Amino acid sequence: MNIAIVGTGYVGLVSGTCFAEMGINVTCVDIDKAKIDKLLNGEIPIYEPGLDDMVKRNIEAGRLHFTTDLTEVLSDVEVVFSAVGTPPDEDGSADLKYVLAVAKTFGQNIDKYTILVTKSTVPVGTAQKVKTAVKAELEKRGKDVPFDVASNPEFLKEGAAIKDFMYPDRVVVGTESEQARKVMSRLYKPFMLSGERMIFTDIPSAEMIKYAANSMLATRISFMNDIANLCELVGADVNMVRKGIGADSRIGKKFLYPGCGYGGSCFPKDVKALIKTAEKNGYPMRVLKAVEEVNQKQKEILFDKLSARFGGDIKGKTVAMWGLAFKPETDDMREAPSLVLIEKLKDAGATVKVYDPVAMDECRRRLGNDAVTYCNDMYEAAIDADALMLVTEWNQFRMPSLPVLKKTMAQPVIIDGRNIYDRDYLEENGFSYTCIGKN
Ligand SMILES: NC(=O)c1ccc[n+]([C@@H]2O[C@H](COP(=O)([O-])OP(=O)(O)OC[C@H]3O[C@@H](n4cnc5c(N)ncnc54)[C@H](O)[C@@H]3O)[C@@H](O)[C@H]2O)c1
Repeated sequence: MNIAIVGTGYVGLVSGTCFAEMGINVTCVDIDKAKIDKLLNGEIPIYEPGLDDMVKRNIEAGRLHFTTDLTEVLSDVEVVFSAVGTPPDEDGSADLKYVLAVAKTFGQNIDKYTILVTKSTVPVGTAQKVKTAVKAELEKRGKDVPFDVASNPEFLKEGAAIKDFMYPDRVVVGTESEQARKVMSRLYKPFMLSGERMIFTDIPSAEMIKYAANSMLATRISFMNDIANLCELVGADVNMVRKGIGADSRIGKKFLYPGCGYGGSCFPKDVKALIKTAEKNGYPMRVLKAVEEVNQKQKEILFDKLSARFGGDIKGKTVAMWGLAFKPETDDMREAPSLVLIEKLKDAGATVKVYDPVAMDECRRRLGNDAVTYCNDMYEAAIDADALMLVTEWNQFRMPSLPVLKKTMAQPVIIDGRNIYDRDYLEENGFSYTCIGKN
């Protein structure tokens, strides 16, 4: 089977590579020439554990190809996945210009039955817009080529993307024809060997499932952050509360960890986009508006804690920041709490020294070379620091050498944004320790 994946980012590259791993002949397409050139030279443009080897293996096997020109592959494929970005536009709605550009090229070039599957996260109604765009191009050509649209939202998590794609909890496919349904079943069959987990729906429901899933997860995080903040005021310990409620099988243990706010390429933009979709339909999403508001505030919480620790004045202080990526095992800094914190620290007159195992280049690309001090390792960042802020819970930060920190930091102050350290142990070793949800 030959397929094309348009958009070779976190989703497109992982999906394309995993399909190729199953023996499918995949061409990944991207308009970003630099990205495609890198891939053609065997370089992986993003950090995703395990992806490097898998890409190389499938290129060598002749099943994974890269190009900047979608038109050259369209006559040869059964399915085209659109995995292009859907960033928020000015009012928070999902910007569909890339999705519709793919639909246009598709309509301008297909010459036999082909399915256009939207894998990007798109608001309900997008498939209809895609269909209309394809039809308009076919009409311009005076051709009546059969085609289908389908919706196949992606649920992979950056950092565990390969495992998520190869062993999905479920694969949701929205279709409106039996033919498209059969092709999609065939395509995903290799991923279902340990049990059938495909969920076929109508297209609007498939589109909504993705937003509802991300919004539910974001809601759990904001809820726990709210509970954590209240725990501090009333003298409770949010870690105990988390365990206590997570043991209830109706609630479950996952996504109950308080922290310094959710970031990344999905939750913030998807929550905003769902609020917008609802507004356009005359319905206010009250819960989600609160989820967003709590998250904005939570991204500032480490700054507030630091500031309180130094009596409201951190001018001239040096702050070490461990972790820049929005979560461990990725270099993605989209909407990362670290960005909000760096800005606030600098505005308050602090010097910021940063270290992240993989996101240093991404930080330089975003903030430039001079905004912060880029350090070569975690201990270098801590030298002469008045406080150490743990922002992303990479494994290597979990068991730091306290003697080294004690000796090299200007003041032994740790502000833990992910609750990974043991208060008693740190205090026994002479550190001042602040975390989330326990005073
Ligand atoms: N990143 C995730 O963890 C994740 C998970 C699930 C779903 N999603 C959704 O998947 C979509 C893609 O996300 P991503 O993180 O992979 O984005 P990304 O920014 O990493 O990649 C998108 C790619 O699309 C390319 N592109 C844009 N227009 C194009 C066109 N006309 N033709 C060819 N390529 C084009 C861009 O150059 C870019 O390389 C988004 O809708 C996102 O919400 C993302």
